[in-house]
Amino acid sequence: MSTMNRQWLLRSKPSGEVSRDNFQWREVPVTEPAEGEILVRTVYISIDPVQRYWLSEKPTFGPPTVVGQVMPARIWGVVEKSKSANYAPGDWVAGLGGWQAYCTWPAAAAERIPRWPGVPLIAHTSLYCMQALAAYFGLLEIGQPKAGETVVVSAAAGGVGSLVVQIARIQGCRVVAIAGTRDKCDWLTRELGADAAINYNSPTFAQDLDRACPAGIDVYYDNVGGDILDAVLARINPHARIACGGFVSHYNDTGAAPGPVNFPMLALKQARAEGFSCFEYVHRAEEAFSALRRWHEEGKLTYRAHVFEGLDSAPEALAGIFHGRNTGKGLVQVSAP
Ligand SMILES: NC(=O)c1ccc[n+]([C@@H]2O[C@H](COP(=O)([O-])OP(=O)(O)OC[C@H]3O[C@@H](n4cnc5c(N)ncnc54)[C@H](OP(=O)(O)O)[C@@H]3O)[C@@H](O)[C@H]2O)c1
Repeated sequence: MSTMNRQWLLRSKPSGEVSRDNFQWREVPVTEPAEGEILVRTVYISIDPVQRYWLSEKPTFGPPTVVGQVMPARIWGVVEKSKSANYAPGDWVAGLGGWQAYCTWPAAAAERIPRWPGVPLIAHTSLYCMQALAAYFGLLEIGQPKAGETVVVSAAAGGVGSLVVQIARIQGCRVVAIAGTRDKCDWLTRELGADAAINYNSPTFAQDLDRACPAGIDVYYDNVGGDILDAVLARINPHARIACGGFVSHYNDTGAAPGPVNFPMLALKQARAEGFSCFEYVHRAEEAFSALRRWHEEGKLTYRAHVFEGLDSAPEALAGIFHGRNTGKGLVQVSAP
């Protein structure tokens, strides 16, 4: 009897918040690998804000999505069958797989995940991953933080932000983290070493930001856009750098969003805001991963995965990002590593 695949197909494009109704469950026999292909059993599915953005009608970075296809997502898994000389059963791989239990890929579509002693597969989802490239290069190359400067990070308890906070602290900066709950703020200060953490849902957010940044803001790592970007722009120092990594507060927008009111501060302060993509830095991944691995081994940096259990939970996991349900890197676990 053939093994059955379980999949979430895109049933409709959401308007506003994504929900389970936008997806359709399907069970079909797995596609057996042809010559040069591999069959991969999905272990972890990455749940990323950008997946919501991929579902919008406008052009976005990332694959265009069409109704009826398997919901796209990066996955990490184990090779079950191989008809390629490059892979053997048991190898760890990653790639664009989607919300499904098995993927059949040409071998060239897979990325080999190295088996480093003592490093579990989950570390590759949360520390040696695309989010880590965004955190490492976005902060160090675009933000160019110097010891003693004030670095502000938004969505600081998410997969990217939690790494940015720690890398900025390792650079000797004063780190001010912004997140949506008291618990997240406690985690950011007590366990990740942020000097201050502010809840953007608090009515005293503006005053709290003033108090946390008595010397102004030199570097802002922006994961959010919107009102938080405006609040930071109002407080930047001369020659500040803003690393524009993402704008999660806009991914559910149904119409045109207002631009930042305080945009002219860039000219007034001779400051710079620059967008970037982790894909620009893939060729330098080894540089980032070896630094992250060293800091992790030295006990200077940690990672956290927020695991939603079972493929069935994928729609709620994605929707939950926009309600701050994840702390650390959002994942769906589909099978055992
Ligand atoms: N440039 C790149 O190459 C690159 C690569 C990866 C990711 N990104 C971007 O980086 C950002 C963070 O990604 P991630 O993977 O770290 O995401 P994540 O782990 O899923 O965390 C996202 C967090 O954003 C917060 N959030 C949600 N809606 C918000 C809103 N309206 N206002 C303020 N905060 C909100 C939530 O936490 P709270 O509880 O704090 O609200 C949520 O947990 C996203 O914008 C993503 O698109 C960019």
